[in-house]
Amino acid sequence: MSNDPKSSPTGLRRNLASHGDPGFSLFLRKAFIKAAGFSDDALDRPIVGITNTFSDFNPCHGNVPRLIEAVKRGVMLAGGLPMEFPTISIHESFANPTSMFLRNLMAIDTEEMIRAQPMDAVVLIGGCDKTVPAQLMAAVSADVPAIQLITGPMLVGYHKGEMLGACTDCRRLWGQHRAGAMDQDEVEVVSGRLAPTQGTCMVMGTASTMGCLVEALGIALPGSGSIPATHADRIRAAEASGRQAVKLAKGGPRPSELLTEAAFRNSMVVLQAIGGSTNGLVHLAAIARRSGIRIDLEEFDRIGRQVPVLVDLKPSGANYMEHFHWAGGVPRLLQELRDHLALDAATVTGETIGAIADRAEDIPGQTIIRSRANPVKATGSMAVLRGNLAPSGAVIKHAAASPELLQHTGRAVVFDSVEDLVTRIDDPDLDVAADDILVLRNAGPKGAPGMPEAGYLPIPKKLAQAGVKDMVRISDARMSGTAFGTIVLHIAPESATGGPLGLVQNGDLILLDVSERRLELLVSEDELERRARDWRPPAHLSEEVRGYRGLYLRSVLQADEGCDFDFC
Ligand code: FES
Repeated sequence: MSNDPKSSPTGLRRNLASHGDPGFSLFLRKAFIKAAGFSDDALDRPIVGITNTFSDFNPCHGNVPRLIEAVKRGVMLAGGLPMEFPTISIHESFANPTSMFLRNLMAIDTEEMIRAQPMDAVVLIGGCDKTVPAQLMAAVSADVPAIQLITGPMLVGYHKGEMLGACTDCRRLWGQHRAGAMDQDEVEVVSGRLAPTQGTCMVMGTASTMGCLVEALGIALPGSGSIPATHADRIRAAEASGRQAVKLAKGGPRPSELLTEAAFRNSMVVLQAIGGSTNGLVHLAAIARRSGIRIDLEEFDRIGRQVPVLVDLKPSGANYMEHFHWAGGVPRLLQELRDHLALDAATVTGETIGAIADRAEDIPGQTIIRSRANPVKATGSMAVLRGNLAPSGAVIKHAAASPELLQHTGRAVVFDSVEDLVTRIDDPDLDVAADDILVLRNAGPKGAPGMPEAGYLPIPKKLAQAGVKDMVRISDARMSGTAFGTIVLHIAPESATGGPLGLVQNGDLILLDVSERRLELLVSEDELERRARDWRPPAHLSEEVRGYRGLYLRSVLQADEGCDFDFC
């Protein structure tokens, strides 16, 4: 290996630490890496970075050590030098106040570690909801050739002979417990059966959605997004990703060349067809924004009117990710969606999306990936709503809603914050009826802060015990992709920044009309102007706040822009 740092900008010579003498910087770097036992031969090879997002606090990433081992094997078999490095890891249930608050921090961490360290390509290993979006945001900004490797979904569990999975069934069974139909002992037993293996939630929640979208974006190996976390195929996909990364390290496409307008359009088609998570839309907007592309919510809505839901998975359908995988996964779905896709979009393998669709395996008798002649739902899973309550848009996953509530006018029952909701929702004296509309505000990106998954407001206990299963619920919050119900989310602008949601009062009438894409507060303009004059932002937005929380509160954007930081 030459000591001349100008002979090649690759491998160990990339991104030298600044000492005012590049030759000395390289000399020092070699000295320290030799201290780790590397030989000169190893140091002449292309370097593939591998993110290590293992954490005892992240069971969805429990298989990461084995995946890293396999990626390294693939890199070495292809003649590269694998270098593992740690980044932040985030799990949905272990991040306070909410994982979304930390997504941008993980994106910044990952981006800067890719930029700072010498790597010619990077394998991004992620899975739990916020990790894959954060890694893709980072990859776009760092623009080093990258390949995404998903940790993979869990296998299903069983309780009393019924197939179960996280977390659509977590919510359904918890709802039964709240309604008094499942006692404490049984709910404890169930908590040990809903998530029976390592890996990510195995319904079409946010993690599964992102697993599909990375294939649609062309930045993961075809078919790799849906392989269960515990299967040998998952390990082989890791090895293959390592091999592919070495090809990328020698001049493969960069994220900026893969993540084009066509790739984002393809991903919107797939998001509608899989019955995907509403969070997927926020994350796509953030990743696209880093690419200088704006996700057009109207276009997303138009796609939803044309593209049916074809994948029969919970919460829109009945099955789980392992069933989708064995039915042919994303490649088989792409084949069914051919007419809606930009078939010449490039992928990380060098194949086009069209070529991947063409060679998808046809599984005789499978019923999970439907034909367009026999869809799960005739239109896509999500709609974008507008109206005087949501001037910059709101989203509803109507595929997982109650059809009879999709056109509904009801009386508002308002909760001023997540804390207010927790305090009063089960109050027996709460003035609420089944045909009212539950309103939650100050739960958006700045208001909560962190835009928690609080949009799935629980049915008030007294109504749940009376058998009410669904109500119209609206908020500026998010909801888990695993949830279901007639739930309007992501109202923008959020109430904490002066959005009209902040002007709703108990007893106002609200109109939801999904076929007309309308969300209206039926109060006169004069009255709304009067209320706006009296409106004040939440106290925490006028305080001096230090550290990451201060950075977040000053910089986070609204949901329609992906909740990224304005300076990213
Ligand atoms: Fe990690 Fe559901 S909690 S994917």
